[in-house]
Amino acid sequence: MNFKDELQARTAEANEVIKEYLPRSRGFSTELADAMAYSLTAGGKRIRPVLMKAVFDLFEGEGWIVEPFMAAIEMIHTHSLVHDDLPAIDNDDYRRGRLTTHKVYGENMGVLAGDALLNYAYETMLQAFGLTEDYEKVWRAMRVIANKTGLNGMLGGQCVDVRTDGKPKSDKMLEYIYQNKTSALIEASMMAGAMLAGADKSEIALMEKAGRMIGLAFQIRDDILDVTGDEKKIGKPLHSDERNQKITYVTIHGVEASMLEVLRFTREASVLISSIGGDDEFILFLIQYLMSRDK
Ligand code: IPE
Ligand code: IPE
Ligand code: MG
Ligand code: MG
Ligand code: MG
Repeated sequence: MNFKDELQARTAEANEVIKEYLPRSRGFSTELADAMAYSLTAGGKRIRPVLMKAVFDLFEGEGWIVEPFMAAIEMIHTHSLVHDDLPAIDNDDYRRGRLTTHKVYGENMGVLAGDALLNYAYETMLQAFGLTEDYEKVWRAMRVIANKTGLNGMLGGQCVDVRTDGKPKSDKMLEYIYQNKTSALIEASMMAGAMLAGADKSEIALMEKAGRMIGLAFQIRDDILDVTGDEKKIGKPLHSDERNQKITYVTIHGVEASMLEVLRFTREASVLISSIGGDDEFILFLIQYLMSRDK
């Protein structure tokens, strides 16, 4: 397999799916639909829908059922970024190589566009009921996504993350933050991909564990890039963490030790995924690539 070509093809596929499910507006709310699409179409890496589809394929999933979920997970992720960049949270002016949503549309629309993206994600997932008679798969996948992205998942992690800016953190607290603000959404992407493909309970639990490891590696790599990255490539400002006095893996352990942690978590995820058997070539390449990504 030529991994680069395969990744490009799968990213293009995710972009097509996202385009198909883009929010449409009626009446006077056009500006909100524009603000939602502005960030959604700005061209992120699309790692979550790509991972979801890769897991769906790993478990030999069939049909279109996964597509509204691919679009929805990217909407939820984009909602988290739009809000994460607001002055009240990380106060960043650039995202995905463009001015942030609130910089272009104003803070009021930044708040509303983030809310509306989150809501539209559920409207989008509901469309999956029209694509299958296997309703149980749909509501199970919706439930895991709802659980992993809310109070006891991504938003809980964001809460502790912002509340502890400038304050010392125990290792346990740092782990809580990373597992929730970042791993939870990746776990949800992989678990939903497995559920929609008809994987069994133990396989879904394995995807949850692998997602946790991938998420930890992903966030530590993000922290490293915040210090050592190339602003043009990452498309967002460097040193956002320092500006917010954020204690990260990198501030505690330094870049080199953090890179070793990225390596360790990536290895753990690879071992878990390999234990499934089946055609895991792409997904194993993908998590390897994420480890040393420069954007
Ligand atoms: C950024 O996510 C937020 C983190 C969890 C570190 P990505 O690095 O996936 O951002 P995009 O989607 O490519 O813009
Ligand atoms: C954000 O973490 C995780 C989210 C849930 C949005 P960061 O604040 O480090 O993400 P970036 O660096 O702004 O993308
Ligand atoms: Mg943040
Ligand atoms: Mg941020
Ligand atoms: Mg960051």
